[in-house]
Amino acid sequence: MANQRAKLVVGNWKMHGRLADNKVLLQAVSQGAGALPQQVGVGVCVPCPYLAQAQVLLNGGRVGWGVQDVSAHAQGAFTGEVAAQMAAEFGASYAIVGHSERRAYHLESVELVATKTVRALEAGLTPIVCVGETLDQREAGATESVIGMQIDAVLAKLSADDAARLVVAYEPVWAIGTGRSASAEQAQAVHAFLRARLAAKSEAAAARVALLYGGSVKPDNAESLFRQQDIDGGLIGGASLKHVDFLAICQAAVTANAMR
Ligand code: PGA
Repeated sequence: MANQRAKLVVGNWKMHGRLADNKVLLQAVSQGAGALPQQVGVGVCVPCPYLAQAQVLLNGGRVGWGVQDVSAHAQGAFTGEVAAQMAAEFGASYAIVGHSERRAYHLESVELVATKTVRALEAGLTPIVCVGETLDQREAGATESVIGMQIDAVLAKLSADDAARLVVAYEPVWAIGTGRSASAEQAQAVHAFLRARLAAKSEAAAARVALLYGGSVKPDNAESLFRQQDIDGGLIGGASLKHVDFLAICQAAVTANAMR
């Protein structure tokens, strides 16, 4: 049975960008995405200082924007942190939470990621909750136990209605920035597992939540990934910094959507 979920492609710029370069990139993405059918959502998650620029350049177009992290606190004496509500004030739609780089380099626990997800939802943002196993964990046969723990910690803090507002990104750590993507079959297997975990919380959430794949998505592998039953789009790092590549990946989502 065909599912009703729209495809979604979101760029994760990470800590890249300069005002002048961003302008060229955002304008090209906005213009290119404007020609795509509405069934495919497009977004970019930029470094916080560039939120205002994204708002000015993307406003009124069909590309949403967002941040790559939010504080676990609503406001207060937390030097250096950025609250979800602050991003919302700049028109953001998305907040990535629990990216593996933050889990690894900033020691973010599953509980902290769950709290950040709640803060993002409270601010009206769509959290893009990232989960994924390391190569050691995969080779030890622990992929499902690791990912199950990561997603369950988030779902435990949410009502069924809020769970349906999530986007979840499966990003195997060994595939991020390495040029070594998971195969479409490997990714689909984990996505089906995630879909079942969502269903255990709420059938409505399982039916609605977009499950993105991330990790070395490029124009030449995007379509085969996006054609999988439970892969609803992608979270794109390196390739989101080149408008030609990013738009080609968006186009792959359009094609896969038509064929799935
Ligand atoms: P990549 O990054 O596409 O450069 O592998 C994906 C991500 O980290 O979100």
